[in-house]
Amino acid sequence: MADRVPYLTSRLQGFGTTIFAEMSALAVATGAINLGQGFPDTDGPPEVLDAAVDAIRGGRNQYPPGRGVPELRQAIVAHQQRWYGLAHDPDTEVLVTAGATEAVAAACLALCETGDEVVVLEPTYDSYQASIAMAGATPVFVTLRPPGYRLDVDALRGAVTPRTRMLLVNSPHNPTGTVLTPDELAAIAAVACEHDLIVVTDEVYEHLTYDGTAHVPLATLPGMRERTLTISSGGKTFNTTGWKVGWVCGPAELVTAVTTAKQFLTYVNAGPFQPAIAAGLALPDAFFTGLAAQLAAQRDVLCAGLEDAGFTVFRPQGTYFVTVDIRPLRPDGDGMALCRSLPHDCGVVAVPNQVFYADPATGRHLVRFSFAKRPEVLEDAAARLAKLGGKGVS
Ligand SMILES: Cc1ncc(COP(=O)(O)O)c(C=O)c1O
Repeated sequence: MADRVPYLTSRLQGFGTTIFAEMSALAVATGAINLGQGFPDTDGPPEVLDAAVDAIRGGRNQYPPGRGVPELRQAIVAHQQRWYGLAHDPDTEVLVTAGATEAVAAACLALCETGDEVVVLEPTYDSYQASIAMAGATPVFVTLRPPGYRLDVDALRGAVTPRTRMLLVNSPHNPTGTVLTPDELAAIAAVACEHDLIVVTDEVYEHLTYDGTAHVPLATLPGMRERTLTISSGGKTFNTTGWKVGWVCGPAELVTAVTTAKQFLTYVNAGPFQPAIAAGLALPDAFFTGLAAQLAAQRDVLCAGLEDAGFTVFRPQGTYFVTVDIRPLRPDGDGMALCRSLPHDCGVVAVPNQVFYADPATGRHLVRFSFAKRPEVLEDAAARLAKLGGKGVS
């Protein structure tokens, strides 16, 4: 257990510093290619960037309405209808947030009583545990395990207790890159309906699925629309992670509850970027399918380099990320040590998956690489990694 951090509330002890800062600093210090953090190194579509410039020049620089500018809420509704056949009222069933991160935090704060339990897929995106903790709730983990990272439905059923308030789901899933199958979604829906649970589903990688794998929102399953808050964000789809324009859609009463918490966190954000994301959501289908095709090709380049290096590669069906088992190269399975030595050994930075697990031992031998980088950067990284092949790592 790490030392107690002075002043920090007991709810947030243990959440001190993230590995991302250490690894990014190491990338800078060594000149290594940073495949640790999940952000793209190219700009998004010109239509989206131009719309933001126009909004700033056009004077849309003051507080937007609390629930978000009308054209973005309408664009979100049109997007959910176009891609998933889901209908929402833009005035009562949509809320614009400061990224998906705030949406998750506001949902936890708005919907959980102290001592409630939140069932969450593990490994978890790092903000979930902190959001659950800030709400005074307790996470209960259902672990996805390699090679397939499939959902263990019995484990899900076993995780539900009389204290369970919410299922917090993420698909396509960071860091594993898995995409929940129709059977898995049906199992989650059955558990939620049987126990009358709220479902919060983080779908920020909704357009980043590969090899014909379809992303199916949980809210489309029978009995789910009325209990599900669907969260997404423009960051991953339009290469605008710094804009932090996210949203949540769901039944009016749930969205209103989340709005109450959200209004005292940020009230509003990203005024001129909101109409720009609206422009992005209205782009033709070819933009979204082209993005997925491009990311799939980038995945293939990186996976080939990782395979040539000798890692066991768990090929992802979605997201920006690929996880590898390092033990063929490093029999002691120490992912943290590998990530600290990799920049020196071959000039590439990754992150150890152990940080995504409640018990770090579960993910000790796993390491995550991001392929949200330009093809030439990934070719370079793949060539560097391939040089590890047969050499082992320190
Ligand atoms: C699963 C998941 N949810 C949310 C986020 C953050 O989204 P935003 O930047 O919109 O807050 C990320 C970013 O990496 C993510 O991987």
